[in-house]
Amino acid sequence: MKKIAILTTVFFTMFAVSTSFAQKVVKKTTTKKTTVVKKTTPAAAGKVSAVTLEQGKQLLTKNDCLSCHKVDVKNVGPAYKDVAKKYPATAANYEKLTQKVIAGGSGVWGDVPMSAHPSVPPADIKKMVQYILSLK
Ligand code: HEC
Repeated sequence: MKKIAILTTVFFTMFAVSTSFAQKVVKKTTTKKTTVVKKTTPAAAGKVSAVTLEQGKQLLTKNDCLSCHKVDVKNVGPAYKDVAKKYPATAANYEKLTQKVIAGGSGVWGDVPMSAHPSVPPADIKKMVQYILSLK
């Protein structure tokens, strides 16, 4: 009888340990999956994050951009909404327009040139361009 009692205890202990271990493994896998999904969704959609767009909006006011540009109407430079209509929000256009703002120049919208912006960090200009192209 004693042997049976000991064997039963050992069996239940092993069962308990293996069950709780199994639960831990399941929990771990579930958390991992949730994290991965959250991380990949915005990138997969190819969208610029709301934080970046907000930073781009703020940067426009901190730099000289709004002295020549308005969002809705043409000023010295084209309205930002017209720029957004002309260029779809793609990686290639972000790059192209970032280079244009750095170098300045004329010819696309008329004869009036845009001043060059060599001292503004290119990463900041890209955020402003991303914000401008989000204005539809
Ligand atoms: C001195 C006035 C002036 C300032 C300051 C200025 N712009 Fe411009 N911008 C223009 C003009 C004029 C054009 C049209 C250029 C052309 O026809 O090629 C233009 C064009 C653009 C375009 C479209 C370029 C293209 O090739 O279609 C973008 C984007 C732009 N500006 C963003 C900015 C940003 C961002 C800033 C601030 C860092 C800025 N601009 C500051 C006058 C200005």
